[in-house]
Amino acid sequence: MTVNAAATEPVARLIGVTKRIGSKTLVGDLTLDIPAGQVFGFLGPNGAGKTTTIRMMVGLISISRGDIVIGGRSIKTNFEEAVAQVGAIVENPEMYKFLTGYQNLKQYARMVSGVTKQRIQEVIELVGLGSRIHDKVKSYSLGMRQRLGVAQALLHRPKLLILDEPTNGLDPQGIRELRDYLRRLCREEGTTVFVSSHLLSEMELMCDSVAIIQNGKLIDVRQLKSEEGGQAQGRKFVFDVDNVQSAQALIGGTVKDAAIVVQTVREDIPELNAKLVSGGVKVYGIKEVVVSLEDQFLEMTGGEGIE
Ligand SMILES: Nc1ncnc2c1ncn2[C@@H]1O[C@H](COP(=O)(O)OP(=O)(O)OP(=O)(O)O)[C@@H](O)[C@H]1O
Ligand SMILES: [Mg+2]
Repeated sequence: MTVNAAATEPVARLIGVTKRIGSKTLVGDLTLDIPAGQVFGFLGPNGAGKTTTIRMMVGLISISRGDIVIGGRSIKTNFEEAVAQVGAIVENPEMYKFLTGYQNLKQYARMVSGVTKQRIQEVIELVGLGSRIHDKVKSYSLGMRQRLGVAQALLHRPKLLILDEPTNGLDPQGIRELRDYLRRLCREEGTTVFVSSHLLSEMELMCDSVAIIQNGKLIDVRQLKSEEGGQAQGRKFVFDVDNVQSAQALIGGTVKDAAIVVQTVREDIPELNAKLVSGGVKVYGIKEVVVSLEDQFLEMTGGEGIE
């Protein structure tokens, strides 16, 4: 299923969300739309305010200022209807270890209305727990417990699934599987997934878009996957010239290592080149460099970086 994000309302909107505790601002004036049908990453270093924001999104803590709207319902004025559209694992999911995975899901299903046996089966398949679902939870590995947690969060068909650092403690195989079933969930059930992490490399593989926060502030929102499904990356072109000052005056860009670096699209290169040449600048070479998100991030944060 393809979802045209531009044509649909965002699943969730954070509007000037602020969290203060005492004199400390944990999250400051965070405004962000989470488009429908995406795996949306929430990236930031330790202490950036990810968990605090997520706790506000699921109503575990109050919002000091601003509002969060989920599926058109304000968490402030329409709390129950807003959170009913969310499934989340914020802390470790509470499970009965002496029961089987299936019994846990059944137990939980009793507390939410409208969960059928068939739905239980569906979520088990979605997270790929099929072969172990009738084993006791105490015999599960961390990754399997987490799958069960996700299955539980999905029982009531939430529009938005929120996972706080779900890859923590998983091995590479586990991370890969998580990635696969989150994408499947997004594709097959149309669920929007909001997932936090402090690892950029992970977000690049898992997410369609990513919002980057640091010190409680939103720094940037980026699309990671292009329309064709490939990696959307910034393009930069390095012009090797005899006179960087004249070149900069003619085409802009930044001076780096006795060359001019311009962020542009390929189609503009001939024109930029013509400008340089007609302006009397000698061009020795033009080279494209692909800028990784990591480099862009380091540039944005002045080299502070994420781990
Ligand atoms: N109850 C609290 N009282 C005071 N400060 C708090 C409280 N909870 C969190 N903080 C502070 O708020 C900031 C944001 O914390 P938060 O847990 O949201 O970060 P995070 O992005 O989830 O980090 P991590 O990647 O380590 O999980 C941190 O500086 C933290 O110390
Ligand atoms: Mg956290």
